[in-house]
Amino acid sequence: MAFDIDKYTANSTAVGWDDLDFDEFNRNPLPAGTLRTLRYMCDVEYHTVCYLRDLLTTPSHKEPEIGAFMTMWNREEFWHGEALAAVLNKHGMSVDFDELKATRIKLGWKDRLDPIKQSLMGGLVGHDFVAVHMAWGAANEWSANAAYIRLAKQENHPVLAELLKRIAAQETKHVAFYASQARERLAGSKKAQVIARFALRKFWAPVGSGISSEAEVAHVMGELFAGTEGRKLIRDIDSHIAKLPGMEGLTIVENALEGFGIPAEGPGREESRRVAVAA
Ligand SMILES: [Fe+2]
Ligand SMILES: [Fe+2]
Repeated sequence: MAFDIDKYTANSTAVGWDDLDFDEFNRNPLPAGTLRTLRYMCDVEYHTVCYLRDLLTTPSHKEPEIGAFMTMWNREEFWHGEALAAVLNKHGMSVDFDELKATRIKLGWKDRLDPIKQSLMGGLVGHDFVAVHMAWGAANEWSANAAYIRLAKQENHPVLAELLKRIAAQETKHVAFYASQARERLAGSKKAQVIARFALRKFWAPVGSGISSEAEVAHVMGELFAGTEGRKLIRDIDSHIAKLPGMEGLTIVENALEGFGIPAEGPGREESRRVAVAA
């Protein structure tokens, strides 16, 4: 079904959490491993503005529908960051604008070169770059959606689970936009299929790996996707990607997980921790 961009832009809003009782975190705080994962997610959400900046240097910015979507998408991701920062603040972890500035300064040349690299790539590939961007975005949004749903289920904290489900509902809309755009654009260009397949296979990495240390990425991947259940979720994401035109057989998310040595079988990290606490 076609994505209704007018409806999306008219209804786009901040994820709501005013009605949630955040004092529940005082009574029932989250474990350190989960806070570390939330911190990573919060950084990624707040970093969306930089991804947007990079992509505005490419042919994608000439497409009005994509421009409209990305404007709203950036706002929604920023608000996801704010909601997660509020959870972290309740646990004495501050994520303020000075902290974000420090992260960006730490990225140094990488941060400065990214928009130039994207612009060059967009220039080289031409209009087919838009299809690659959409396929890449779909892979990222499918991953984000799975991550929030998984964390909500694993943690089973009444307030966190509700907040993450609300965030995931917005991620589902992001998936719908990117995937429908990718499907249509890839179907219309064999060249775009070849480039997207090459780019995803060679360069895709979990969202946030460009701004966080390898240890943080490994922690988050292990927390969310270790064990049999986690691996099934990862394979589901890969099967969605593989259904895009020309992407048959790609297993980029599972390959990335294996690169971090995340076990494919047995209990997940959260389940192991619960068993250890109960024993
Ligand atoms: Fe988000
Ligand atoms: Fe998203």
